[in-house]
Amino acid sequence: MKIFNKIKSLYSLLGIQPKSKSNTVVDSIGSNTINNSIIEKRNPKSKIKFGSNSTISGRFVLNCENSLIEIGNNVSIGNSSIFECALEIIVEDDVLISYQCIIQDSNNHSLNLTERVNDNLNWNRKGIHDWTIPISKKVIIGRGSWLGARAIILKGVELGEGCIVGAGSVVTKSFPAWSIIGGNPAKLIRTLTEEER
Ligand SMILES: CC(C)(COP(=O)(O)OP(=O)(O)OC[C@H]1O[C@@H](n2cnc3c(N)ncnc32)[C@H](O)[C@@H]1OP(=O)(O)O)[C@@H](O)C(=O)NCCC(=O)NCCS
Repeated sequence: MKIFNKIKSLYSLLGIQPKSKSNTVVDSIGSNTINNSIIEKRNPKSKIKFGSNSTISGRFVLNCENSLIEIGNNVSIGNSSIFECALEIIVEDDVLISYQCIIQDSNNHSLNLTERVNDNLNWNRKGIHDWTIPISKKVIIGRGSWLGARAIILKGVELGEGCIVGAGSVVTKSFPAWSIIGGNPAKLIRTLTEEER
């Protein structure tokens, strides 16, 4: 047990996190929220918070000590959606996220082969990953936004209030409030009118 704890602290010092098991326990949850999610904290110090009156399915993976996932009030997240967090993913109030969406705030692996080459072996043999190498940037889904089925949101994306993301879109850049966006990479289709807001 002592050796196990020493190895764990060494990994922590190096910014390397071992695999962990899944459960459904969140750090805080508001009233009337239905939690059907699967939560995998790969670092026990990471944080995941759900607001009130939300209905949450999907899988939430928190990789690092400072990883934070915050879901607001009156949010729906559909089945088989996946959130993978190295840094921070914020979903504001009144957001609708359909099924099979992916939101991730990190590249997860280096673009440089020399840095990436041991990732598979480390995961396979030791169940560890070095999160100090890949680029990670916070993601924010603005209040009242709607992500169609199979939308993918990548690192650094910030969607302003009331954005609509078309089904199957891959969002690589940020968009201002009231944008309807779609495609791969997602582009502006149009801006919602005053009456639609
Ligand atoms: C984005 C969306 C809401 C737009 O709806 P709409 O306003 O009725 O759009 P239209 O069908 O009139 O299409 C408008 C334009 O956007 C394009 N477009 C629509 N959906 C798109 C998508 N998912 N990806 C890329 N482009 C898309 C259309 O090709 C059209 O382009 P054009 O003007 O060059 O011909 C809708 O297409 C969509 O994707 N809805 C998601 C539905 C869903 O996933 N539901 C799951 C349950 S929550």
